[in-house]
Order: sequence, then C-alpha cells, then structure tokens
Amino acid sequence: MDQLNTLNKMTEEAQAAILGADSSKALYDLKVKYLGKQGSLTQMMKLMGKLPKEERPKFGQMVNVAKKELQAVYDNREKAIGDKELEGRIQNETIDLHLPGPESFVGSKHPLRSVIQEMTQILSRLGFSVRQGPMIEEDRYNFEALNFPKDHPARDMQDTFYIDPEHVLRTHTSPIQIRTLEKEKLPLRILAPGTVFRVDSDVTHSPNFHQVEGLLVNKQVSMAELKGVVGFFLRNFFGPKTKVRFRPSYFPFTEPSAEVDCTCPKCAGKGCRLCSNTGWIEIAGCGLVHPNVFKSVGIDPNEWEGFAFGFGVERMAMIKYGITDIRHFYNNDVRFLEQLIL
Ligand code: PHE
Repeated sequence: MDQLNTLNKMTEEAQAAILGADSSKALYDLKVKYLGKQGSLTQMMKLMGKLPKEERPKFGQMVNVAKKELQAVYDNREKAIGDKELEGRIQNETIDLHLPGPESFVGSKHPLRSVIQEMTQILSRLGFSVRQGPMIEEDRYNFEALNFPKDHPARDMQDTFYIDPEHVLRTHTSPIQIRTLEKEKLPLRILAPGTVFRVDSDVTHSPNFHQVEGLLVNKQVSMAELKGVVGFFLRNFFGPKTKVRFRPSYFPFTEPSAEVDCTCPKCAGKGCRLCSNTGWIEIAGCGLVHPNVFKSVGIDPNEWEGFAFGFGVERMAMIKYGITDIRHFYNNDVRFLEQLIL
C-alpha cells in the first residue's frame, strides 16, 4: 500500500525533525508543518479517499496512531526545550539583590500653596471664606469698577500685561471683590487668593506672584475693625508678639487707605537687614471700600460699608522663612522645595 509507505516515511521524517529541533520557535514551526490544520497528517487523511473502501478504516486508524505518537514525541521535546530555555534564562538574568533599587521621590505641597492655605485657615476662623476669579480679567473688573477710570494716572501704579485693550492679566486679586459683590448677598466676608501679574522682575519681584485679598461688607464697618482683623491675622501668622501699624496711603478703590506694617519677625523690631534697620516691614495694603466701588455694582454706599485688604503671598513667605530670592519659588529646584515642606 503506497499510502502506508508515505505515512511511515512522513512519520519518521517528522520524528527526526522534532527530535532535532533546538528552540521553541523551530519546534513550533514543525508543529504547524506536521500536526497543524494544513499539516502533513491532515494531508494523509485526504489521501484516504483514494483507497479502496475496505482499506479506509485501517488506514484511518494508522493515521490516528501516527498522530498520537508524533504528538507524544512533540510534547516531550517541547518540555525538554522549555526546561533548557528556562535554565538558560535563569543563568543569564541573575539579579543582584544587593543593588539599591531605583530612587523614588515623594511629592509635596508647593510652599506657596502651603502659605496660602495657612493664610486662608487663619482668616477662616473669623468667618472669611474663599472665592476665585479668572487670571485673564476684563478691564472693567481689574480697573474700571475699582474706580480706576480710563486714562486715570492711577493705572500707571501697576505695570500691566495687556491681552487686548479690554483684557489684562489681572494685576491684583481686587477684581474678585467686584465679581463677588455683583453676585452675592450682603453682608459678606470673603477671601480671594490667586496668581497676579505685573511687568516687574528682580530678586523680590516676579512678573507673576500671588496675593490674598480680603473683603468684608456690613451695615457699618470701621478702620478699627479692619485693624483688628489684620492684627489678628498677622499675630497668628508671624507670632503673638507681632505689632501692627497703619500708615496713610492711596488706592483708588479704598478711602481712607492704609499701608500695613508689622514689627520685623526676624529681629522682633530691633532693626536688622531684612527691615533695613527700621524694625518694621511693609506687608499689605488696605482701606475702607470706596463709595464708587459700591456704586459700580449697584450697591447703595449709604446703606453698606466695607473694608478690604491685600497681602502678597511671596512676601509673607520670604519674611517668615528667610528666603532672599523670590525666584526660588518658581524654579522647581527640589533642593529648595524639600527644605520648605511646611
Ligand atoms: N490691590 C492692591 C494691590 O495690589 C492691594 C489692596 C487690596 C489694597 C485691598 C487695598 C485693599 O496693591
């Protein structure tokens, strides 16, 4: 029977090839060639059709036996090659458990974020709660409604980044006063922390920096009350011995206006380099809300009064933590940031 010869020859050839395969890839190719759907054994089954009817069952059996044998040879070889390859990998991939692992860094809050949180936490104890506003601000909110009329020389006080004639990068957080007054019911007391922008750059000034704004509106408020709030805040931030003084100043949106000084936290008022030997440090601007500000948002200044204050966050942080260059806050140098995890 020719077919039987062909089957035997093929089986022998296949066995020899499988026993000779020396990689799992080579072995797999042989599996496809002999045992696969299109493989030699399947072809053998097709030959069966050419046999006389009575010989077919016998031949079919032989093919099945051959298939089983071949499969067994294959399985043995597969295991042997697998073991050998694993052995080889284990030899090559030795791990030195004494080597230090890759260093991993744990992130932390940015110092400015921590200082803003500290500031808002202190003032939240007096009932102030946080509001926010956009960094790209309309002229109306940044200037106009805050009583800086167009062409008023007061606008020269702040060097402004203009987006277009109607939009600026906000130069202070005071526009959030207006946005809040427009929307919310009176009385109110709010805090507005945020990034602000001015054309200014040296060791103590950065073109972008941060402020925390405060606004309180009530039927009646006074400079004494304002001084009480600012004093409470500064004593909590710099320490209980901190003294506060107001100096007359000018802002278009407050009247009267004051510049806030506190005793130098470094020398406790004795005089040092930080305070230029004066014992005092200028720390904020403040005042009573100007009637024109109320008018610009449709609030009757005869019915309501208010006070506002604005602190520079970087300045507060630099004084409290003895940082002499404002740029440290923005360079993202981990050596600096790690020292100031607050
Ligand atoms: N917006 C003022 C500034 O940036 C600070 C300020 C806020 C003054 C609130 C008075 C009242 O200089």
